[in-house]
Amino acid sequence: MKRSKLNIKHLELRPFYAWEHEWFLLTAGNMEKNDFNTMTVAWGSIGCMWNKPFVQAVVRPSRHTLEFMDKYDTFTLCRFPKEYKKALSYLGSTSGRDVPDKHVKAGLTPIKVPSIDAPGFDEADLILACKKIYWQDMDETHFLDDKIITKYPGETDFHRIYFGEIVHCEVVTGNW
Ligand SMILES: Cc1cc2nc3c(=O)[nH]c(=O)nc-3n(C[C@H](O)[C@H](O)[C@H](O)COP(=O)(O)O)c2cc1C
Repeated sequence: MKRSKLNIKHLELRPFYAWEHEWFLLTAGNMEKNDFNTMTVAWGSIGCMWNKPFVQAVVRPSRHTLEFMDKYDTFTLCRFPKEYKKALSYLGSTSGRDVPDKHVKAGLTPIKVPSIDAPGFDEADLILACKKIYWQDMDETHFLDDKIITKYPGETDFHRIYFGEIVHCEVVTGNW
C-alpha cells in the first residue's frame, strides 16, 4: 500500500474504537536480521508522556513476543483495514514459538520502517514506529478494583508494561 509520513500531531484516531475493535499488531525485533515476532494487541493506550508522543503496550510474560520486546530497542504498532481481521485473529491465537514466521501464514508482508529496526507491514494503513523508553511489571498488590484479577483466571503472568516513544508515523495516503 502507498503510505506517507505523517506528523504525529496531525494523526486523527478514535483510540477507544481502534484498541478495542480494530486491534493492532505489536511487532518487535530486527527486520534486517530477520529476527522478529508479532502478536495482536487490544489493550494499551496512545498519548503524551514526558512531553513525547507515546504508546503503551502490555505483554504477558507467556507471549513469545515478550522476548523480542526485551531483546530489542524498537517496536511497531500497526493497524489494518477490516479485511485483515481474520489475519489478526490468527496472529492473536497462534504463538510464534509454535509457528515461526506466522505472519507469512497470515498473508502479511514485513517492510522496513524508517528510524527503527523493527518491521512494519505493507498491508497496514497506520504504522507507529516506537522506541522503547520505559518498562515495568504489573504488581497485583496495586490492583485497586476487585474485578481486575478476574482478567487473570488462575494465572499469575501479569502483563509487562512498555512505553514507546513514537518516532515515526506512516498512514495510507488518501485515508486521512
Ligand atoms: C483481539 C486480541 C487482543 C489481544 N491483546 C493482547 C494484549 O494486549 N496483550 C497480550 O499480552 N496478549 C494479547 N492477546 C493475545 C496474544 O496476541 C496471543 O497470545 C498471541 O498468540 C501471542 O503470540 P506470541 O506467543 O507469538 O507472542 C490478544 C489476542 C487477541 C485475539
